Amino acid sequence: MKNRFDGKVALVTGGAGGIGAEIVLALIEEGATVSIFDTNSEAITNLVSTLDGKKALGKVVNVRSQESVEEAVAQVISKFGGIDILIAAAGGSLGTPRDLDYISAEDLDLVIDVNIKGTFHCAKAVIPAMKSRGGGSIVTFSSIGGRSASPVTGVAYAAAKAGIIGLTRRLAREVGGDGIRVNSIAPGLFLTGRLQGMFDAMSPAEQKEVLDGIPLKRMPRIEECVEPVLFLASEASSYITGAVLDVNGGRLMAN
Ligand SMILES: NC(=O)c1ccc[n+]([C@@H]2O[C@H](COP(=O)([O-])OP(=O)(O)OC[C@H]3O[C@@H](n4cnc5c(N)ncnc54)[C@H](O)[C@@H]3O)[C@@H](O)[C@H]2O)c1
Repeated sequence: MKNRFDGKVALVTGGAGGIGAEIVLALIEEGATVSIFDTNSEAITNLVSTLDGKKALGKVVNVRSQESVEEAVAQVISKFGGIDILIAAAGGSLGTPRDLDYISAEDLDLVIDVNIKGTFHCAKAVIPAMKSRGGGSIVTFSSIGGRSASPVTGVAYAAAKAGIIGLTRRLAREVGGDGIRVNSIAPGLFLTGRLQGMFDAMSPAEQKEVLDGIPLKRMPRIEECVEPVLFLASEASSYITGAVLDVNGGRLMAN
């Protein structure tokens, strides 16, 4: 077993479900103490009940709310003494429509708020604590849908995930001198919960079309997103900041 995160305190937003929950488990497995901010209280309870209470803290926090984020971050710092790592995974297209005709102003607000403002609120709230510990690592969540014109997700998601890249780079420039690195992960399609159902419902011909667009010719396992996130969070990437790491089986080969 590797112990890359012994003594580290991590915060994972969206950590009660999908990729975020797998990141929580992997961080704890490797020695970190982890706080989870998520809106799904049942999923938080289910996950945290399987974990050592000294190593894990679950909080119902909507990352759209700066006030809730600040309050919860203060509680994490008071319980665990600081924060070294932020994994800002809360996000997605959040059930909003893909096609322009059906995307309402409220849909756009939701997607921008959770993805961009949520990442902003969380980063802003943890950075003073990271500075006082001499540094830290922030991993934001972009997407192949923000790196290219995805057929699967719509303009609200594309705008949000492209915006996260701008946020990541500008923030990396601003806090690098404090020893804080800021990088983004840009996954392709990973079949978590709802997305697995969507993929299973496709015809064999449609599934083949998806796979034909992926040079590695297979769908990924969730851990194939987790490990690149842990790399960016860990000292193994100590001279990498402002980077976007594409994890998509070669479906998009960006410059
Ligand atoms: N799964 C994929 O194929 C894929 C591809 C590219 C990017 N991503 C990105 O990866 C991240 C995780 O995706 P996932 O598929 O694991 O999603 P998911 O929907 O399975 O899990 C997201 C978690 O975030 C929580 N959440 C939603 N809104 C929140 C809010 N306002 N405040 C706090 N928590 C909130 C949910 O309750 C859930 O537990 C997202 O940012 C998503 O956009 C996923």
